[in-house]
Amino acid sequence: MSKTIAVIPGDGIGPEIMTATLRVLDALDCGLAYEFVDAGMVALEKHGELLPQSTLDVIAQHKVALKGPLTTPIGGGFTSINVTLRRHFDLYANVRPAVSFPGTKSRYENIDIITVRENTEGAYLAEGQVVSEDGEIATSIIRNTRKGSTRIVRYAFELAVKKGRKKITAVHKANILKTSSGLFLNVAREIAKEYPQIEFNEMIVDNTCMQLVMKPEQFDVIVTTNLFGDILSDLCAGLVGGLGLAPGDNIGANAAIFEAVHGSAPDIAGKGVANPCALLLAAADMLDHLDLLAKGNQLRQAIRATVEQDRQHVTPDLGGSGSTDSFADAIVKRIKG
Ligand SMILES: NC(=O)c1ccc[n+]([C@@H]2O[C@H](COP(=O)([O-])OP(=O)(O)OC[C@H]3O[C@@H](n4cnc5c(N)ncnc54)[C@H](O)[C@@H]3O)[C@@H](O)[C@H]2O)c1
Repeated sequence: MSKTIAVIPGDGIGPEIMTATLRVLDALDCGLAYEFVDAGMVALEKHGELLPQSTLDVIAQHKVALKGPLTTPIGGGFTSINVTLRRHFDLYANVRPAVSFPGTKSRYENIDIITVRENTEGAYLAEGQVVSEDGEIATSIIRNTRKGSTRIVRYAFELAVKKGRKKITAVHKANILKTSSGLFLNVAREIAKEYPQIEFNEMIVDNTCMQLVMKPEQFDVIVTTNLFGDILSDLCAGLVGGLGLAPGDNIGANAAIFEAVHGSAPDIAGKGVANPCALLLAAADMLDHLDLLAKGNQLRQAIRATVEQDRQHVTPDLGGSGSTDSFADAIVKRIKG
């Protein structure tokens, strides 16, 4: 049976890497159909707004979207479209896998860490940000809820079970942020008891940063609150060689949006050299989400083999001399066997 997903090609290099990604997805033959919608600068030019209602309606209808990077215009009171999408669809889980790829430049080999970041509350509330009239005092609120903590921790445990992962580390700062981080940690401890098959440990965020840099192999799945997750997931991307291979999944109860973590890269747009890997890895996570686990794994293996063995076809950012198209062609060739 065919499943339709919403596709947002995006700005800058977005259309180039999206075309490559859809070509690879078609080669996998997983029965997907696409409904294309606009967001970002393309939407502003065509429809007069960055995020048209029709785009939101199509995402709501299909519940799953694959999204290229979007350019948020600087100044002029524009809110980030990505933040707006997260809020609109209550995409509470931001899942960021960081996996080592052989043949790429990175500090470590054999890293395989998934960061599950709470995406809707914590220190990232829109309300409660106040600067006093004299400009001397800035105040912002951190608010974690039992509901928000419960659903993110449960999501992390369910993901661990689904993917056969062994260990979850809850990262917190409950020694200082006794209320907000304390609530999150208590909830994590309670939920961990329901999953005796998964090893559970807890770690204070500053120590986690040091441990990630010194002994990253001790981590499997990390679950944490919004601000810590934002920082730690980029740290993990750095451990495996940067954002070129970093997918980001935004999951809610009623919708999920899969994207590359990097931006629209205006400096290389139109040159045909953009690396499609991060979006392809996001597409593999999307296949997992659609319960097409075998297809997701097949795609990951094809990407991995191409990066490792077809060096002449990979893009310059990974040290190759290929193009977006030659990279996608090489992956398709491996899928077709
Ligand atoms: N998820 C998103 O939609 C998202 C995320 C981050 C930034 N942005 C937007 O993207 C625009 C540009 O932001 P930026 O320049 O800070 O970050 P960027 O990630 O677009 O680019 C940073 C550097 O990385 C390179 N790069 C990024 N992706 C690449 C790829 N796939 N292949 C090869 N090289 C790649 C770029 O050429 C550039 O040198 C801004 O408008 C920003 O708001 C969007």
